[in-house]
Amino acid sequence: MTTDAKRARARALAAEAIAAGEPEAWFERLYQEAEAGEAIVPWDDRRANPLLVAWLDRHAAPRLGARALDVGCGTGDNAGELASRGWAVTAFDVAPTAVAVASVRFPEVTCEVASALDPPPAWREAFDLVVEIYTLQVLPPAERARAAQALAGLVAPGGTLLVIARAREVDDPPGAMPWPLVEAEIRAIGETSGLVCAELGAVLDDETPPVRRWVAAFTRPARAEG
Ligand SMILES: C[S@@+](CC[C@H](N)C(=O)[O-])C[C@H]1O[C@@H](n2cnc3c(N)ncnc32)[C@H](O)[C@@H]1O
Repeated sequence: MTTDAKRARARALAAEAIAAGEPEAWFERLYQEAEAGEAIVPWDDRRANPLLVAWLDRHAAPRLGARALDVGCGTGDNAGELASRGWAVTAFDVAPTAVAVASVRFPEVTCEVASALDPPPAWREAFDLVVEIYTLQVLPPAERARAAQALAGLVAPGGTLLVIARAREVDDPPGAMPWPLVEAEIRAIGETSGLVCAELGAVLDDETPPVRRWVAAFTRPARAEG
């Protein structure tokens, strides 16, 4: 099945939900259909994202007890990768069916049903690493901005927000869901929330044909010792 064919049901459900003013509602429906063997979740390829793996390889292993949060974790492969590298991982998704699958597959990860639009107050500035892969790009602009602000707020002092998302040039058409983001949109995710851009680059991934993706890391300045 081609990527477009896999995506057709997801796009139809997304269009319906967005028209109904419920842009988060379609994810659970798609996961339920997939569990019943009636649809395919296009992003659920049961492997850790290779760009995440490459980013983790380039950075130091976590200190003992360091906490990572995986946003929109789906069935959990990225959270499992983080846990295998020594992070104490919390993973969340708005879709209960995805969270149930993730928690069975990766019992070492704390899996929760929650929304990036309104994360639990206890998570505020609680994570040394917040990993956001492909979730902001499936949210319409208003929800994307709100989620980005909320996610940046979860980064602890000295911590990092890693964002991996589809990329487009300003002159390119906006495209269809999953919407590719221009550089200014990626920068704004961290920089409108008091984080500092530590790295930002566009790379081609390993899909066929390859897709251009942003890999961006934003850090919250550490608190001054007093
Ligand atoms: C495109 S998928 C990416 C999944 C995973 N991060 C990956 O890279 O394979 C987006 C995920 O975000 C979840 N999601 C969508 N809106 C969300 C929200 N507001 N809060 C939390 N999760 C959300 C969806 O259920 C879905 O699992």
